[in-house]
Amino acid sequence: MKEPNRPEERRRVRVRTPDAAIIKAEGGVDKPKSTQKTRKPSADQIEDLTAVLAQKVVGQPAATRVIVPYIQMYQAGLSPEGRPVGIFLLLGPTGTGKTKTVEALAEILHGSEKNVLKVDCGEFQMEHEVAKLIGAPPGYLGHRETQPMLTQQKLNAVTSEKCNLSLVLFDEIEKAAPSMTRLLLGVLDKGQLRLGDNSTVNFEKSLVFLTSNLGAREMMREINPEFGFQSVKTPERTDLTSKLQNIALVAVRKRFSPEFVNRIDCIITYQPLTVESLSAILDKQITDLQNHVNTRLANRSFTLEVPFEARQFLLTKGTSPEYGARELNRTIHRFLTQPLATMVATNRVNPGARVLVEVAEGGEKLDIRSTDAVAGVAPANPTVLLVDDNRDLLHFLERLMADAGWTLLTAESATEAKRLVANNRPNAALLDYMLPDGNGVELGVEFLQAVPQMLVIVMTGTILPPEEEALCEEHNFPVLRKPFLASDVMNQIRSRLAPAGTGAGRSA
Ligand SMILES: Nc1ncnc2c1ncn2[C@@H]1O[C@H](COP(=O)(O)OP(=O)(O)OP(=O)(O)O)[C@@H](O)[C@H]1O
Ligand SMILES: [Mg+2]
Repeated sequence: MKEPNRPEERRRVRVRTPDAAIIKAEGGVDKPKSTQKTRKPSADQIEDLTAVLAQKVVGQPAATRVIVPYIQMYQAGLSPEGRPVGIFLLLGPTGTGKTKTVEALAEILHGSEKNVLKVDCGEFQMEHEVAKLIGAPPGYLGHRETQPMLTQQKLNAVTSEKCNLSLVLFDEIEKAAPSMTRLLLGVLDKGQLRLGDNSTVNFEKSLVFLTSNLGAREMMREINPEFGFQSVKTPERTDLTSKLQNIALVAVRKRFSPEFVNRIDCIITYQPLTVESLSAILDKQITDLQNHVNTRLANRSFTLEVPFEARQFLLTKGTSPEYGARELNRTIHRFLTQPLATMVATNRVNPGARVLVEVAEGGEKLDIRSTDAVAGVAPANPTVLLVDDNRDLLHFLERLMADAGWTLLTAESATEAKRLVANNRPNAALLDYMLPDGNGVELGVEFLQAVPQMLVIVMTGTILPPEEEALCEEHNFPVLRKPFLASDVMNQIRSRLAPAGTGAGRSA
């Protein structure tokens, strides 16, 4: 057995707000913003942010790769002054994740997708509408009543305690009136915007995203709908990627002046989603739906089971080269979310039930059946033991699990954990690998002897030594690598504690 590292060498976790909860593996606990800014990000941190963003925005590695270093530069205090931290132009077919990228970043950095200052450029197509953006100059009737959309206050309002970087999104910039493009040029160039009342808004602590559908029509012609996504093979795809990039660049250069284009740090062309990406998005949406059920319905929640065939059905119906993941979202809504909502509203789902989703005869829709939970196999409100010597993490998960109606037992050491298991026989145990007085994997094996039905999950911030890895495999312990999302761990527990015979039980 490998000795755990000494406490001072061990990684700590950083806990974020529920939605964006990333359980981090890094040195040092949260520091005040001022010191955080001057800290140089480690290669690990860059990897963490990249990994978490890639989980949320599927199948667009170029976007993740390009954007993350700018955030890290800012966090390291190395961003140049007198301009925004980064300026990105996001192009590509509809429903491929452009807006989602900005929302996902907001969730990661600030804890909520909503922490984005979004300017819909379609609202500023006429010259006179630009006053709505910056406010009318004094002397104009009613200038006091016109609240500019872009003020320093609004920019600051989308920051959070955790991060003082504002995310600003100018959606569909090709629709903006020329005077708005001129204003934008000032923002991109000097990081400043002068308002109607002559005050200025500073964008030096902002990441600016511009999105556009420029070239989208030509791109559609390139993504031949007859092929569908299934047949886009690797060599063809590489070819398609560069073709789409060219189309995008030509369209951008045609529409915007060279000085505008030159001030953009990166132009990112989003790729059509492959069937694998759509499938990953579908899985995520179903997990989110289950989470939503658990948080909203708490004690009345139920377990949704969507087997492979039903997922294939949704995928086939929801694959559209034209609308990307938007079509998938619509399909999920139509065939799954809506009928499920009707069942819940009409009391056709009992608390703790298994709700099974199957392809109906004829293959044109889904059948949703509620069956009662198999007694004793799937507790609706499991008791979960969490063992980690990080108190913040314990408290954070405790709150989250209590919200879901679960009972949480917490221990900071192996000794304490053993006592709790003997007295409470929890349904699941979430064990940190490195404990002050032991090792999570071996502790898990010991627990199984006392409570054979217990689900054991191991958390680790490092790679497990081969012997521990082998033990996990032998005993079927899922291993969660830090950083992970709080929702991931809850889903693991939920799906693994699901009733036997559903394909999601312990042996899954
Ligand atoms: N790459 C992706 N990863 C995860 N989800 C995605 C992805 N692309 C799209 N989605 C899903 O589809 C929805 C629509 O995507 P999004 O708003 O990002 O499209 P867009 O690229 O901005 O399209 P448009 O050009 O029409 O504005 C998102 O809310 C999300 O649920
Ligand atoms: Mg969009």
